[in-house]
Amino acid sequence: MRHALVLGVVAAMAAAPWPHALAQTEDPVSAEFDKFREVLEKDNPAELWEVKGEQLWRTPGGPKKASLEKCDLGLGPGVVKGAYAQMPRYFADVDRVMDAEARIVHCMITLQGFTYAELAKAPFSSATRTPDPVSIVTYVAAQSAGMKFAAPQGHPKEKATYAAGKEIFFYRAGTFDFSCASCHGVDDKRIRTQPLPNFTKPEQAIRAVLGWPGYRMTGGVMHSLQWRLTDCFRQQRFPKPDYTSETLSALMTYVTVNANGQVYKGPGIKR
Ligand code: HEC
Repeated sequence: MRHALVLGVVAAMAAAPWPHALAQTEDPVSAEFDKFREVLEKDNPAELWEVKGEQLWRTPGGPKKASLEKCDLGLGPGVVKGAYAQMPRYFADVDRVMDAEARIVHCMITLQGFTYAELAKAPFSSATRTPDPVSIVTYVAAQSAGMKFAAPQGHPKEKATYAAGKEIFFYRAGTFDFSCASCHGVDDKRIRTQPLPNFTKPEQAIRAVLGWPGYRMTGGVMHSLQWRLTDCFRQQRFPKPDYTSETLSALMTYVTVNANGQVYKGPGIKR
């Protein structure tokens, strides 16, 4: 009963028009939601996507009828355990830093023969369809549950990508002259009832990456960080970044490295 009530509140918030940022006060809805999420995460619907993602990983598919089991996520071909917590990272074969979903898409193209155009055409989940990379990234992410984030910063390109991500994070432009930091770079900010953590601080940066990929109760869909960041670009009134672009990997590098050393709990639940 209480759960149904909370869901109703959540749905109402999602339907609300664009709100003003307010100073954070004691927030009963938020506290209530956190309790609700704890209950739900014990039996997380994200597991459905994990199972589907594992099937997609292991089953030969695409024009080349190959599985993804030779995909190198940074720890060697086929090694999935722990890989998500150590991404984004530099990959010599493409000479750039890639986040998990970007790497999975790369493997689907190179190993299975899909084209970027078909994978990028409608890359985000809807009520009726979950794109395969989203399920696969959920499977891969689940294999890092309980491990500490350790996005590497040893390679010069990893350092440069972190610096680029930081610059993008603070870059102000657009109709509202917003940057990511306008909403996520100050303490105690929230939009209506949604607290906005300060991702520039290590102890709060973890909130940028924790629970992603996440099962979103509003809509009942599974979303990855590629979607979350792309949607924030929309909120910021910026042009839409390309799916799996270096811009998105750079922002993910920035927030993940800031959260390094803290424990990843696996795919989660988001409102
Ligand atoms: C106009 C304000 C605004 C701007 C600008 C903005 N965001 Fe967001 N962001 C939000 C809101 C609102 C949420 C959802 C919070 C929630 O649901 O609890 C969010 C959520 C997030 C999350 C997930 C946090 C979580 O708790 O799971 C990340 C990561 C994120 N934003 C990153 C960014 C990045 C990177 C940028 C710059 C490209 C950006 N945001 C720009 C408002 C903004």
